[in-house]
Amino acid sequence: MAKIPQSTIDEVLARADIESVVGRYVTFTKRTGQNLFGLCPFHSEKTPSFSVSISKNIYKCFGCQKCGNAIGFIMDIEKMSFPEAVKYLGDQYGVPVEWEEDGKDNSSELKKRKKRVEAILTEAAGFYYKALNSDAGKAAREYAAKRQLSQKTLVKFGIGYAPDGFTNLYQYLKKKGYDDSELKDSGLFTVAKNGNLIDLFRGRLIIPIFDFLGKIVAFGGRNLGPELPKYVNSPDSLVYEKGKHLYGLNYAKSTKTKQLIIVEGYMDAIAMHQAGVDNAVAALGTAFTDNQLRLASKCGADEIVFFFDSDKAGQAAALRASKMMLSYLRRMSGIKIRIRIAAVPNGKDPDEYIKNDGVEAFKAVVKSAKDVNDYLFSRAYDDNYDVERGLDQTKFQEDIVTYGSWLFDPIKREKMAAQAAQYLGARAETIIAAMEHVEDDDLESKRTQDKREQEKADSEQIKQRIENAANAPKADVVTRDEMELLVRAVRLGPLLADESKIDRTDVIRKNDFTGHNIREVVTYFLESFDAQRGVSEAVLVNKLSEVMFNGIKAEVFFFKMSDSMPVEPTKDAEVDMYKKTLYLVRAKKCTQEMIKLRELIRNTDDEAKKQELMAKSEKLDKYYQKLQQKSDAL
Ligand code: UTP
Ligand code: MN
Repeated sequence: MAKIPQSTIDEVLARADIESVVGRYVTFTKRTGQNLFGLCPFHSEKTPSFSVSISKNIYKCFGCQKCGNAIGFIMDIEKMSFPEAVKYLGDQYGVPVEWEEDGKDNSSELKKRKKRVEAILTEAAGFYYKALNSDAGKAAREYAAKRQLSQKTLVKFGIGYAPDGFTNLYQYLKKKGYDDSELKDSGLFTVAKNGNLIDLFRGRLIIPIFDFLGKIVAFGGRNLGPELPKYVNSPDSLVYEKGKHLYGLNYAKSTKTKQLIIVEGYMDAIAMHQAGVDNAVAALGTAFTDNQLRLASKCGADEIVFFFDSDKAGQAAALRASKMMLSYLRRMSGIKIRIRIAAVPNGKDPDEYIKNDGVEAFKAVVKSAKDVNDYLFSRAYDDNYDVERGLDQTKFQEDIVTYGSWLFDPIKREKMAAQAAQYLGARAETIIAAMEHVEDDDLESKRTQDKREQEKADSEQIKQRIENAANAPKADVVTRDEMELLVRAVRLGPLLADESKIDRTDVIRKNDFTGHNIREVVTYFLESFDAQRGVSEAVLVNKLSEVMFNGIKAEVFFFKMSDSMPVEPTKDAEVDMYKKTLYLVRAKKCTQEMIKLRELIRNTDDEAKKQELMAKSEKLDKYYQKLQQKSDAL
């Protein structure tokens, strides 16, 4: 695995303070001393059980038990691997993150394969591009002209043509030295019955799909005629995952406006850019996902305007996306994005509209986009209104209550309820109460969902525990007292190095502990110890996250213990409690040794050996007495 030096990780943790890292996703609603509270971004809840400890530089949710440092938080929320998260934070907080590659294991093998795929995609784009401008590309050029794509647009978006025939691209790439397995990785080929690779795109106008950095990750191919399927798209691959990209974001992200216009088709986005609407992106034919919303926010958008097709599928997609976004923004209370929804008149799509009616008319449509709450109100009304029969009150009420339950802004909710009250002949408060009731049910079902996930994780853990026990007996054994001792040692910080308060023999050492894993952690703790600062829990979490204690993730065990131990009122009291725990742990170890010794003494016939063991036992006994005295003196 790519290895990042420990010093870099420490530096990142030192600079990326937990408050600012988490604060981008969560709004803190309460502050007590060194602790901040807010709604948990990882599970649904109405009252805050998510907390951040500024002094410890860690976060913890008392509802879903998630906890960790800034790196762990980014891993969870951005769905990144450990090195990715370190790099991500390093970039933001000005810590250069270098990777020490050791070059032999899987992840760098995977990296190599990815690199090859990227190279293939770039080669392929060049091939398609050239083909568009070759003799074979005549029909495709005519098609592009019919769709009014300018030469400049073709170049800007790297549009090309996949010639008819089954192996044009295949032959081309073979000659460039790529083998079949690499070509398969690229997603540009399908496998025929006889095992041969066949070009996926044939006789189609090719649109390369870029990620937000401008790297080609996939392709789309438009049929030149009316035959189906209209589009063929690259499947998911090592470098492409549907629902994680927004087409055109590589251009849109650097426009002056913080508004992002989201359309369904890439042809729409291309037409808009050509017309000068350069903040347009396409969702790439999938339902709009929370990954895409996160990406939009990451690229600086503070407002998104949606265009959904006016057909049934488009309208259903609009409702689904609204619900998803509102639920996401409720959890990520620190992310502020205004959501608006627009409708192109007369059932056209943005591409057609902008070409027929011009860019000014289009901009007016964008301007008139409704805020999501107003949009939802209109949907509830329009969907249930019939010219002949008027408004279907029952269905209208149902929809209003459902949509209102999605709104988390109490003012918007109240506004919706007040508007609906006029049609329903009921008081707004009653409607709000109904909305809240649905919301509770919703949260409850989410909570069971969270619970189910938790249970799954737990059963995994139990399985792991059984395996651990079978493989490495006692490696992860930790007693309560040992854990308490470690927590107290960590809490002491620099005091642990203060010889006027703590004798050197009273500093914890590896041998005070029994299990292999905790010994490793203690060794790490002592090695990382700094006389000025001690060892921060945030740094220690890195080590803890690597091992298990008693079959449970060590960090979880550690924090559970830490939370259950009140902090002593004074530093001196902390020191005393530390010592008390230390003597207790040492005394217990001593007792166990003595039991073992007595057993040995009883079982040996060798008189000399017996004497030796007795002497040892006496020594231990003295040591035990001393520990008792020291403990009593506290
Ligand atoms: P549309 O059917 O709205 O196509 O599909 P469009 O953008 O208007 O295309 P033109 O103008 O007819 O050329 C919108 C999106 O849905 C996906 C594509 O990503 C497309 O951009 N789609 C559509 C497919 O993947 N396959 C299809 O067969 C159709
Ligand atoms: Mn279209």
